[in-house]
Amino acid sequence: MDSQKIKTLIVDDDPFVRDMLGMILQSGDYGVETAENGIDAVEKFKADAGINIIISDMNMPGMSGLELIKAIRDGGSDVPIIILTGNNEISIAVEAIRSGANDYLLKDENIQDTIILSVERVMEKYHLKMQNIRLMADLAEKNKELEKSNAELKELNNLKNKFLGIAAHDLRNPLTAISGLSEILIGEAFGPLTAEQGEYLSIINGTSNEMLGLVNDLLDVSIIESGKLDLVLKKDSLKSILENRMKISSIIAQRKNITINADLHDVPDTLFDPNRIAQVMDNLIGNAIKFSPTGSHVYITLENKGDALQVGVKDEGPGIPDDEKAKLFGEFQRLSVQPTGGEKSTGLGLAIVKKIVNAHGGDVRVESAVGSGTTFYFTIPPDGRA
Ligand SMILES: Nc1ncnc2c1ncn2[C@@H]1O[C@H](COP(=O)(O)OP(=O)(O)O)[C@@H](O)[C@H]1O
Ligand SMILES: [Mg+2]
Repeated sequence: MDSQKIKTLIVDDDPFVRDMLGMILQSGDYGVETAENGIDAVEKFKADAGINIIISDMNMPGMSGLELIKAIRDGGSDVPIIILTGNNEISIAVEAIRSGANDYLLKDENIQDTIILSVERVMEKYHLKMQNIRLMADLAEKNKELEKSNAELKELNNLKNKFLGIAAHDLRNPLTAISGLSEILIGEAFGPLTAEQGEYLSIINGTSNEMLGLVNDLLDVSIIESGKLDLVLKKDSLKSILENRMKISSIIAQRKNITINADLHDVPDTLFDPNRIAQVMDNLIGNAIKFSPTGSHVYITLENKGDALQVGVKDEGPGIPDDEKAKLFGEFQRLSVQPTGGEKSTGLGLAIVKKIVNAHGGDVRVESAVGSGTTFYFTIPPDGRA
């Protein structure tokens, strides 16, 4: 066993038993101390912190083995205890184990072998238990460290959001100016343009608008992530907002010869943030157009599902592979399906969609299979639960 000698305390009122067990254990290279009854044993155990295991008789004058176990355990020690019993005392042995003994041993002709085995077994268990306690303490320590670094990460993430928010916010005004002013020039408000001037101004205008879109998305992510998405709720008609957004999207769809069809049921007015829900619709319809081939169809539905008002946007695009679906709503996730008409892709749209819909108390889900198109559904609670 250990390099350090294990010290046993043998407790028995019979000097012959003490001597015999002492000799067996000493020849097994164990240290031995003896006591002649429970009271004696408690004293010796208290006085000698080096005692690793107690081996005690049950019937002794003064203090019995059972009382000894209780005294040791009540004193807060979980030192291993083996009790010695006669053949007709098994029920007492069971009681001893219940009271906190670790093993029992029959005082018979085999004791020379069994006592060493029992001590080894009990000590091994004890060491495992101690190791376990140490491991648990280690684990608790590691958990604490993990919690600390989690808090630090959260703090850093907050900082990132703040930074993102400030940068995006400050970029918005100059970009709006570039976009607006270039548009005025394109309109030849200050005189006719050469073809080249017109072409370059169009590039300036288009690029600044793309940047404005990205900056707005970044600002949204920052606002939403920092928990500052304040919905401006209004009781309104989902149907009329949908019709409105379809009209705007169909201009973009026409460029790819994509037809938008709609099947919009009448649903009761409900509470939602019209600007934010318009943004959700624009994103979903925009994706359907962006990732679909020219000449295909987009179908938009509005239904009352009883417990929710549901909008569906279905396309005839390539479909999304199953193993990519889990990433769809993550930030900056661009998947294997790419725009078909050279459109910009940042991977922020669906992350924003999900957060806005969830903030309304609704859900977003996707039904898609490679080769058979994609349908995104989102729901809004019908009774203004948001
Ligand atoms: N209707 C769709 N059909 C196929 N793939 C899609 C569709 N909508 C989204 N995706 C995939 O999910 C990714 C993330 O979408 P999104 O968050 O809107 O970002 P973005 O439109 O900027 O790429 C897209 O890049 C695309 O790979
Ligand atoms: Mg998108």
